[in-house]
Amino acid sequence: MRIVVIGATGTIGSEIADALDANHEVVRAHRHGDVKVDLDEPDSIRDMYEQLGELDAVVCAAGIAKFGKLGDLRDADFGLSMRSKLMGQVNLVRYGRERLRDGGSFTLTSGVLAQHPMPGTSAVAMVNGGVESFARAAALELERGLRINVVSPGWVKETMESMGMDSSSGTAARDVAQLYVQAIEGEQTGEVLHP
Ligand SMILES: NC(=O)c1ccc[n+]([C@@H]2O[C@H](COP(=O)([O-])OP(=O)(O)OC[C@H]3O[C@@H](n4cnc5c(N)ncnc54)[C@H](OP(=O)(O)O)[C@@H]3O)[C@@H](O)[C@H]2O)c1
Repeated sequence: MRIVVIGATGTIGSEIADALDANHEVVRAHRHGDVKVDLDEPDSIRDMYEQLGELDAVVCAAGIAKFGKLGDLRDADFGLSMRSKLMGQVNLVRYGRERLRDGGSFTLTSGVLAQHPMPGTSAVAMVNGGVESFARAAALELERGLRINVVSPGWVKETMESMGMDSSSGTAARDVAQLYVQAIEGEQTGEVLHP
């Protein structure tokens, strides 16, 4: 399959791209690479699809949502969270659905805070929940055998280590990446996959 991985230099995205490399043609995209895309900018998503031509799968492991207490989050913080992680991924599907080959797939990223929020995560939890609800609904309408699924990572071990946290409860990025591979190579649609 010919697969674009958005966020391919990230903690999770780099493991996804490496895992897919053995059996597929992988295109690595992010804001600063040879194949550039900025999820926050709808035109940049359109330009990426124009540049890439035919694809079998689109994987997204990128998108920003702002942490902060409800009283501290500003309009701009909610705006960025919706524009980047929510609408960025929604637009990947909206603009990509006519470009994928028959039977192709989208695999998006949400996060455990959709189901298990903590104080200081209202914007992140909102966006994660939105991505999951969007995917379940979009799966009902996609044509030509196209599929859409979401991976909902918990805390990733490498991320916890980089933040100086105890990482013993985290999941290695390599293990999270396997869920994306399953979503791409499997037959499910409208599902949220948890590590
Ligand atoms: N790590 C965790 O513990 C964890 C847990 C739950 C959910 N998640 C979710 O998983 C996703 C990936 O997380 P991560 O920790 O792997 O992120 P990361 O290490 O910060 O990597 C982000 C990747 O996305 C690219 N990127 C950033 N902003 C972008 C944009 N606006 N448009 C296109 N590409 C962009 C980055 O490259 P450039 O900077 O060059 O663009 C990089 O390749 C995020 O949505 C995050 O919320 C992560």
